[in-house]
Amino acid sequence: MIFREVPAEAREGLAWILDQSFRGLYLWHARKTLRSVSWVREATQGGATLGVTMSTMLGKATGYVYYAAVVPSQRARGVGGLLLDDAMQFLRARGASEVFVCTRADNTPSVRLLLSRNFTRIGYHDLARSRGFASTARLWMRMVVAPGEKVYRISLSADA
Ligand SMILES: CC(C)(COP(=O)(O)OP(=O)(O)OC[C@H]1O[C@@H](n2cnc3c(N)ncnc32)[C@H](O)[C@@H]1OP(=O)(O)O)[C@@H](O)C(=O)NCCC(=O)NCCS
Repeated sequence: MIFREVPAEAREGLAWILDQSFRGLYLWHARKTLRSVSWVREATQGGATLGVTMSTMLGKATGYVYYAAVVPSQRARGVGGLLLDDAMQFLRARGASEVFVCTRADNTPSVRLLLSRNFTRIGYHDLARSRGFASTARLWMRMVVAPGEKVYRISLSADA
């Protein structure tokens, strides 16, 4: 499996994976993010794309994975986990000492994926206690945490 960054001009060619992975407002936002996010990375095998991640830095040492999506026929084979590993490694190389991901609580594959990579759920108030309300509010807004979504975090320095 090969992991690589997808240049801006090639991103639209991955929209079909989003079409098969998200619905409604999530699909609209994922497609919008595909065009505008800092980094899109793909996993390929034999020239075929198996899945994508979209990520950015939210601060000097804070990485964020907006979306991970695996082609339906390739799911539950470890691709999502490897894509997330790749995104974390990529963000770490850009200075991230922590990475955040949001997901709906009822998205079992996504929650299981995060738990399999040692992400832990963090609530707004818990985070605000350690870094202050203003900073947490800014972070929450930049992550675009939707109703029904939960925030997961991993400390890369501690879990490296
Ligand atoms: C979430 C998603 C990316 C996971 O990708 P994947 O390639 O299927 O995940 P993996 O095969 O690497 O599995 C990772 C872990 O999640 C678990 N998992 C994956 N799919 C699961 C399912 N349907 N039910 C329960 N657990 C599941 C695996 O068992 C594994 O855990 P383990 O290592 O403890 O065994 C994929 O399901 C997907 O693209 N979903 C649609 C888009 C989406 O919801 N993205 C996430 C929000 S941005």
